[in-house]
Amino acid sequence: MQMHLAAFLIAGNAAHSQVLWRHPASQSGGFLKLDYYTNIARTLERGKFDLLFFADRLAISTRFGGDHRYGVAHGDQDATRMDPLPILGALAAVTSHIGLGATRSTTYSQPYSLAREFSTLDHLSDGRASWNVVTSVNQGEADNFGLRETLGHDARYDRADEFLEVTHKLWGSWGEDALLLEVNSGRYADPDLVSAIDHQGAHFTVRGPLNIPASPQRGPVIIQAGSSHRGQDFAARWAEVVFTIQPDLARMQRFYNDLKSRTPKFGRAPQDIKVLTAIMPFVGETIGEAEEKRAQHNALVDPIVGLSTLSSHMNVDFSAYPLDAPIGDLQVAGMQGLFSLIREISAEQKLTLADIGRLYATGVLVPQIVGTASDIADWMGHIIAEGGADGFVITPAHLPDGFDDFVDQVIPELQRRGQFRLEYEGATLRSYLKN
Ligand SMILES: Cc1cc2nc3c(=O)[nH]c(=O)nc-3n(C[C@H](O)[C@H](O)[C@H](O)COP(=O)(O)O)c2cc1C
Repeated sequence: MQMHLAAFLIAGNAAHSQVLWRHPASQSGGFLKLDYYTNIARTLERGKFDLLFFADRLAISTRFGGDHRYGVAHGDQDATRMDPLPILGALAAVTSHIGLGATRSTTYSQPYSLAREFSTLDHLSDGRASWNVVTSVNQGEADNFGLRETLGHDARYDRADEFLEVTHKLWGSWGEDALLLEVNSGRYADPDLVSAIDHQGAHFTVRGPLNIPASPQRGPVIIQAGSSHRGQDFAARWAEVVFTIQPDLARMQRFYNDLKSRTPKFGRAPQDIKVLTAIMPFVGETIGEAEEKRAQHNALVDPIVGLSTLSSHMNVDFSAYPLDAPIGDLQVAGMQGLFSLIREISAEQKLTLADIGRLYATGVLVPQIVGTASDIADWMGHIIAEGGADGFVITPAHLPDGFDDFVDQVIPELQRRGQFRLEYEGATLRSYLKN
């Protein structure tokens, strides 16, 4: 069976790895330059990745210690995040096949402006736009957008559901044949094929239509990563790609089956959603060389940087808890799906808060897969065959060259085994995902 591959990026100094910017192979400072991103995109397109996407957040970490000072001083995951959409516009110009995804928040955006952004990207990229839908969880973001506190968990998803209804109506507001461009008669477009949406709901009032003709994919491919029950229902209703972090096969299978079993409730089929599980690969000519690469990366980890990022993700100030004690059954208002995983792993492995910080800074619980290209291809094939995922989100240990080993060594191995495409087939990102 063919698998799907996405690349995880942040437009800043980190990825899941929060030591990425300190890695000797990274170009320190490069992440503020366009070349850095064009190099990455070209490498990934050479590897025939389905898509690359940028995670995002709308605030510097302010939760840990109640201030921005720690995260900024040590470069945690939120210390720098440029806006992904202008970068994707530039990447559309230097690539011609790879899907281009950006995260945007349903809590801090308006459907009309967001529909325009992604419709524009979809036109300029000839049908490669993708939107990672997030509901935003942290107080720092609320503080930047005039909310006294973040919306409650279910309230975030209520707003998100209506947001998606509105954007889909807007993307459908121009019929495919509406644009006429009849130069001689002076008919620009057929107004009978362009409709107001007249949406009036609990959160939004939008007349429409969109002021952009129908784009190649109509709307972007929808990515989603919520893992709570409500988050999974939201994904089952709207998502085409679901991105998840699961540490082992049993948990991957549980998540995969749970998510796919929810699709009929929303009139969809299980195969309408591709579940991609995150991995951080370390590839070597020998297992020893691969282990050495992992050790070099992990030796840089500072557990307190991990706790700063964790504080931001979970909306809890972990500086107030003892480092050498377990977290017990602490409840959080932030990313609940991810935090219940942390609680489970901590209980199983008897971890202290410092251990959790170390794990988090290493890669936000993303499993590290270490070996030769053949070992890694074996492992990936096994996960797919056992129903753990439809593909993988590959997250780098350093950049901009962090994907090269994977593209030059693991991809050819997967292709030789018939498990990954040799060429892009189809004209749009959505069509690659169907194959
Ligand atoms: C693997 C994963 C990746 C996520 N990436 C982002 C992100 O880039 N930006 C963001 O604001 N939220 C991100 N989130 C948060 C989710 O989109 C969601 O808002 C959050 O997890 C709360 O929903 P939940 O309780 O259903 O998990 C991510 C969550 C997970 C599990």
